[in-house]
Amino acid sequence: MLPHARGDGDAVRRADEFAELAKSAGAQVLERITARIDQPNPRFYLGSGKADEVAARVKALEADLVLVDHALTPVQERNLEKHVGARVVDRTGLILDIFAQRARSHEGKLEVELAQLKHLATRLVRGWTHLERQRGGAIGLRGPGETQLETDRRLLGERVKLLTRRIEKVHVQREQQRRARLRNTVPRVALVGYTNAGKSTLFNALTAGSVYAADQLFATLDPTVRRIEGLSCGPAVLADTVGFIRELPHDLVAAFRATLAEARDADLLLHVSDAADPERDRLIEVVNGVLEEIGAAGVPQLHVFNKIDLTDLPPRLERAGDGRPERVWISAATGAGLDLLRQALGERLGGARVRAELRLPPRAGRLRARLIALGAVARERHAEDGGWLLELDAPQAVLTPLLGDGSAEDARLLRGVLGS
Ligand code: GTP
Repeated sequence: MLPHARGDGDAVRRADEFAELAKSAGAQVLERITARIDQPNPRFYLGSGKADEVAARVKALEADLVLVDHALTPVQERNLEKHVGARVVDRTGLILDIFAQRARSHEGKLEVELAQLKHLATRLVRGWTHLERQRGGAIGLRGPGETQLETDRRLLGERVKLLTRRIEKVHVQREQQRRARLRNTVPRVALVGYTNAGKSTLFNALTAGSVYAADQLFATLDPTVRRIEGLSCGPAVLADTVGFIRELPHDLVAAFRATLAEARDADLLLHVSDAADPERDRLIEVVNGVLEEIGAAGVPQLHVFNKIDLTDLPPRLERAGDGRPERVWISAATGAGLDLLRQALGERLGGARVRAELRLPPRAGRLRARLIALGAVARERHAEDGGWLLELDAPQAVLTPLLGDGSAEDARLLRGVLGS
């Protein structure tokens, strides 16, 4: 069911996109019905003639679900369900369902469940007596909260409270871990992209065989963060994020703020798109729009055009005017171009990294201890004079502040390797 106010080409594209979303939720699209809505009817949102038409088609096709590409009020949804004799799920419900299936992190799952419960709370109390529970399959109902959704209103309220508490706890843990990671100074990369672009496939390809060793606590909490080894800049941390969708309902943007903070806190975004999709440029804009909404528009991006195996394009690395890697064409599924992507990542992340030998006299023990605490020392040897020979390997941004808050002697020693 595709109500639209404008009868232009944009409506056709939107309809295609909505059908894609329905398919990715597991629905089989039997028919699309479009309606021009100039003045929404408070009872059904659609006009009553249109509602009759939908009811007739539901019957003829033996459809058990009607998806409406618009937000409906609970009352409209209920009225329409009664009128057409099948479950009705609106755009928000469908998107929540997709997120429920795809949320990967512990926190993401909690957040989806909470958003789902809030969305459904008002709708659930009507009971399902006018419809068989199973009609319409599970769409709009499944997810981490599936079993709770069948409980009564009181239990629902308790569940919302419990989830809210858990999410708060997870947020606190996440914040602590985020700080610990910042102290670790390992560069942080987040995968972003429209749903189905191939982020998870790429995540697995880039981190194959990597363990969580350095980040145990985080690993148990969130399986979507792993280390990438073997880059020229040293190790980096890669985070997978949920797939982006156009017109993310506002509630959902709020509920996902913490999950999407993964993207905002990153040093670099790998913006993945499907090279074989004729709509790819438009979807890149959609993803950039969401990034703007969550405050991540300023994070540098490296564009990854995935699925080149479905096109006749070769693997390729494209650079900006200043020589910086800007676009990489790869196939996460076949592995073509992954070496170029690793090279690009190494260059983009390594730009501001200091790798140098630093000779410290015996009296610079305090500076040595500070450098070790910052994780900036890759190796050290004792020097003959009782001092040390350190091999530094750290982002410049971590070392520069030491110039100002140590002794003048420390600053002089450091200036030698920082080149300032
Ligand atoms: P969301 O979970 O919706 O955000 O999706 P995603 O971006 O994580 O995509 P995912 O990795 O789940 O891949 C989506 C589909 O594309 C899967 O069927 C993959 O097998 C397929 N796919 C991923 N990479 C490639 C590729 O390089 N070539 C081809 N042909 N298919 C790919």
